[in-house]
Amino acid sequence: MLEIKGVCKTFNAGTVNEKRALNGLSLTLADGDFVTVIGGNGAGKSTMLNAVAGVFPVDEGSIVIDGVDVTRLPEHKRAPYIGRVFQDPMMGTAATMQIEENMALAARRGRPRTLRPGITKKEREEYREMLKILDLGLEDRLTSKVGLLSGGQRQALTLLMASLVKPKLLLLDEHTAALDPKTAAKVLETTEKIVERDHLTTLMITHNMKDAIAHGDRLVMLYDGRIVLDIAGEEKKRLTVEDLLEQFTKVSGAEFSSDRALLS
Ligand SMILES: Nc1ncnc2c1ncn2[C@@H]1O[C@H](COP(=O)(O)OP(=O)(O)OP(=O)(O)O)[C@@H](O)[C@H]1O
Ligand SMILES: [Mg+2]
Repeated sequence: MLEIKGVCKTFNAGTVNEKRALNGLSLTLADGDFVTVIGGNGAGKSTMLNAVAGVFPVDEGSIVIDGVDVTRLPEHKRAPYIGRVFQDPMMGTAATMQIEENMALAARRGRPRTLRPGITKKEREEYREMLKILDLGLEDRLTSKVGLLSGGQRQALTLLMASLVKPKLLLLDEHTAALDPKTAAKVLETTEKIVERDHLTTLMITHNMKDAIAHGDRLVMLYDGRIVLDIAGEEKKRLTVEDLLEQFTKVSGAEFSSDRALLS
């Protein structure tokens, strides 16, 4: 479903701020793979997701989504394939619009936008049904402005919207990092439900090693712009946080900077 091959990306090339963020990155995901992504600050995790989404062109290598070479496609032409959720709960939804209006916009992803989303009775009922999976009572608040929701509620809604038109890829960039632990756990639970329901091919970046081990069916570690660890199946189920820290020390020759690597 996704084939990243030998991708390189250098920011600010030729200046003092030159930074090689992706360094011959290769990663292949089969249909339905749910991969968690870990790595230290600046390892290139977000850059990898941005490269897949087409936020910027890459310098070298190729990116193929479901058999389509998208390497040279601009972001808006890849958007129909991709659902994204970012760390910031404010980013995925429009605060001044109602829940149902936000959902109607998401339902039109990849199709020409109309000026104002007209919502039919049938669509409204569909949205109501979909919202129930979140278990947050939002199905009774269809006309509430999204700006009135909590961060966790907004992230859950963003997740639902990202999967409303079944994407070929779901890209999650620390989408629970800004939430309190209880809300984060709830949004992760919802993530699992949606990924399973729709059999979504998913890349989920997290700073929480426990979450990376507990969720998904495969785990990759990035270091210095490439994959240094790729573990799946039974081996992944047996992983411990200590294993990951040990691996990190081995590849980097340094201790994992624990500032944001939440181990609890
Ligand atoms: N748009 C950009 N312009 C310049 N440099 C960038 C840009 N985006 C990323 N970088 C640099 O590329 C490197 C990789 O950044 P990236 O955001 O991918 O790291 P990350 O693994 O997501 O880290 P974190 O865990 O802190 O989110 C960093 O050194 C970063 O400063
Ligand atoms: Mg990042």
